[in-house]
Amino acid sequence: MSELLLQADELTKHYGVSRGLFRPKATVKALNGVSFTLAPKKTLAVVGESGCGKSTLARQLTLIERPTRGTLKLRGADAATADVATLRGLRRDVQMVFQNPFASLNPRKTIATTLAEPLLINTPLSAAERRERVEALATKVGLRPEHLRRYPHMFSGGQRQRIAIARAMILNPGIVVADEPVSALDVSIQAQILNLFMDLQAEFGTGYVFISHNLSVVEHVADEVMVMYLGAAVEIGAKRRLFAAPLHPYTRALMSAAPALRAADRRERIVIHGELPSPLNPPSGCAFHKRCPLAVRRCAEEAPALREVDGRQVACHEV
Ligand SMILES: Nc1ncnc2c1ncn2[C@@H]1O[C@H](COP(=O)(O)OP(=O)(O)O)[C@@H](O)[C@H]1O
Ligand SMILES: [Mg+2]
Repeated sequence: MSELLLQADELTKHYGVSRGLFRPKATVKALNGVSFTLAPKKTLAVVGESGCGKSTLARQLTLIERPTRGTLKLRGADAATADVATLRGLRRDVQMVFQNPFASLNPRKTIATTLAEPLLINTPLSAAERRERVEALATKVGLRPEHLRRYPHMFSGGQRQRIAIARAMILNPGIVVADEPVSALDVSIQAQILNLFMDLQAEFGTGYVFISHNLSVVEHVADEVMVMYLGAAVEIGAKRRLFAAPLHPYTRALMSAAPALRAADRRERIVIHGELPSPLNPPSGCAFHKRCPLAVRRCAEEAPALREVDGRQVACHEV
């Protein structure tokens, strides 16, 4: 078995979309060759603006979709070639937490039923053992025993997210992919939920891929950070290095735009103009060149590959 929980190599996902009856299909290049690894007990935070492919990446990692190209290994096993039994094991081992816990919980089932269901399907545990496991985990995520008899609509958003986290953790997975898990919550609740994620990681050793557009959230939870732009990673490295000295002009712009971060060290505000280009028709060369303050002619012609600069990986001709 591999030491690494996840190894993504050039993961790519293109969607064919119809443009009308007599026109050829267009291709949405949602994910364009993303590579990274995740070690046990570590958190890789994925950050980037809306539409850059974060949720598409999450669907590949959780085996909800199959990538168009590239390979994904979970604990060393290639998801594309694994047999049915291995795949079933891998699916148990990688769980997901979504942004909206209400939509992801069945409104007709009590919390006890929702939490016990994965155990019923995947384990030989008896009813009494299942109940015990459910109660123990419910307590860990901050629910009280009487909560277990209630239905999702009887809870606040923060409590519902605690329930969704418990459901993701009930089979003790090696990997949890959390897609904007605190973005729908009140700011006052967000820190509690982030701390819950971290407590559970410390206790169970789970590896997290933690997706967020919010850099303050990323700074709170991440060990490593991957900054994405238009379906590709532009900078990957240890959180400390990235936050201390972001190198890619897009990372620098993101960080300079985050008020909490800026107040701390009075970083100069870098404004990027224009919108995220369409993944239907990405720009030539570097996908960021049309918005980039550093762009030179080469950037429009040649896409920069990730390379090692100052202890992290950066895809830019000019740094
Ligand atoms: N099933 C799909 N079919 C066509 N296009 C899609 C599909 N899923 C996502 N996309 C497109 O892929 C791009 C990336 O989307 P997404 O991964 O949801 O971004 P993010 O989560 O970073 O906001 C967007 O342009 C989106 O419209
Ligand atoms: Mg998304």
